[in-house]
Amino acid sequence: MAKKPNKTKALPIHILNGPNLNLLGSREPDIYGKTTLAGIEKACRARAEAHGFSILFDQSNKEGELVEMIQRARTASSAVIINAAAYTHTSVAVLDALKMLTVPAIEVHLSNPARRENFRHTSYVAMGATGTIAGFGLNSYLLAIDAVAALLKDKKA
Ligand code: DQA
Repeated sequence: MAKKPNKTKALPIHILNGPNLNLLGSREPDIYGKTTLAGIEKACRARAEAHGFSILFDQSNKEGELVEMIQRARTASSAVIINAAAYTHTSVAVLDALKMLTVPAIEVHLSNPARRENFRHTSYVAMGATGTIAGFGLNSYLLAIDAVAALLKDKKA
């Protein structure tokens, strides 16, 4: 019998969401839009599939849980897309976890923190990220998936 080619399946892209993003849709819709987190997940899944990737999509309100998710991504993911929400501006622990990643990490935000209050102008996440996409609402996530797909394709070529 002919031997099946040993095709290794790409690891999923891990999309992580921080505190209060579980309430998207009803949370300050003038800033964050009316799309729920479930709606964002659905759109991300479709975009990733179009690029030939699967996704893992998680949300936590707890800093330590986000750190653990990033740690798991070290070996279980081909890339990380992270909206650390308010922890973006405060968490050295999230930054230190991101620094241990050898896969690409893209920072995303629905709003553009640079146009908002001063305390949102500092991003610890940015110091551990490959790049940042902010200000495009749901499209920030989809553009991040496009960026990851391009990065991984370049790596394979
Ligand atoms: C956010 C921006 C953060 O400043 C804020 O704390 C959030 C959401 C965004 O997606 O625009 O919770 O990360």
